[in-house]
Amino acid sequence: MHKLSPVPYGSLVFAPMEGITDEAFRKTILKLYPEWDYLATDFLRVPSAGRYPTKHLIRHFGKELSEIGWVKDKTMFQILTSHRAFTIQMVKDVADLGYPWMDINLGCPSNTVTKNGGGSSLLLDLGALRTLLKNIRDNFSGRLTAKIRTGFHNTLEFEDSIKLLNDEGIEMITVHGRTRDMMYKVPAEWNYIEKAVKISQVPIVGNGDVWCVSDIHRMLKETGCHAVMVARGALKAPWIAQSYKQGVIEETAEERFRKIQKFFFEYRSELESENITDRGLLKQSKSVSRFMLDGIQNSEIIRRKLLLSQTAPDFYSIIESL
Ligand SMILES: Cc1cc2nc3c(=O)[nH]c(=O)nc-3n(C[C@H](O)[C@H](O)[C@H](O)COP(=O)(O)O)c2cc1C
Repeated sequence: MHKLSPVPYGSLVFAPMEGITDEAFRKTILKLYPEWDYLATDFLRVPSAGRYPTKHLIRHFGKELSEIGWVKDKTMFQILTSHRAFTIQMVKDVADLGYPWMDINLGCPSNTVTKNGGGSSLLLDLGALRTLLKNIRDNFSGRLTAKIRTGFHNTLEFEDSIKLLNDEGIEMITVHGRTRDMMYKVPAEWNYIEKAVKISQVPIVGNGDVWCVSDIHRMLKETGCHAVMVARGALKAPWIAQSYKQGVIEETAEERFRKIQKFFFEYRSELESENITDRGLLKQSKSVSRFMLDGIQNSEIIRRKLLLSQTAPDFYSIIESL
């Protein structure tokens, strides 16, 4: 496995998002907004028995994108595992396919995942997590990173978890400033990101409630983090990395409408090139549009119309009329 060059200070990472950051979506982002320094696949659950066929792993990353070296270098392949899953086999399989960057999901809060011992629930037993991380590290020579919440029920073991990740060879840690129990109910606590920066030897990526360009500046300044990861804010404005790099702080509703149209024009053509059904196109487009009108005055009616549209042509005629 070739060695990736270090992540530069101030890098912007498009967050992993289940149901969103699939190949068509990432291709759209790469084409329209190359200003994103790094991207992520959404999580791939490690099977609890057996192994995935090679085709399945490649499809998760994206068949076409898997052929492009520089895309592989800038995209983390995220896995979601538990103590019962067949982790070592999958880690070896991902490594054998030449994906140079693996990210371990230690933050997923969903009940389905945590009741099976995955995602954020791995933070409940740091001893067992240490063993799991050792097994992964021993079998993956590429860049190994982790994405973490500040704890499960509380933050009592937050510092220990950061130290543990450092000890076990994790090369960069994304900290989402909320515990699992907080879900999304309270504002992200950036002071934990700052705390992680102070105790970690490896770079910390700050994550949580970055909604606009000035939040990116603020996150870097207030927490001292090395890079910033954006999830919902990047659904609101997939072009936020471009705005950040071009120094654009404010944009009018009119400018946003034009950007939304440009985004959906490209996204639709990516999905159609996969021969997606009309139903699939509608479903994906609705999911992706969830935050895009946020903050635009009087946009409630448009948002409702988009969500209620019954066919993809209906959805896209609303987009065209923006
Ligand atoms: C729809 C959706 C899907 C998500 N899927 C994942 C995922 O697959 N892996 C992951 O690590 N985090 C996932 N997250 C969490 C985000 O990556 C991020 O940590 C969280 O939303 C906080 O960042 P934000 O305030 O910028 O949204 C998801 C979030 C959303 C909204």
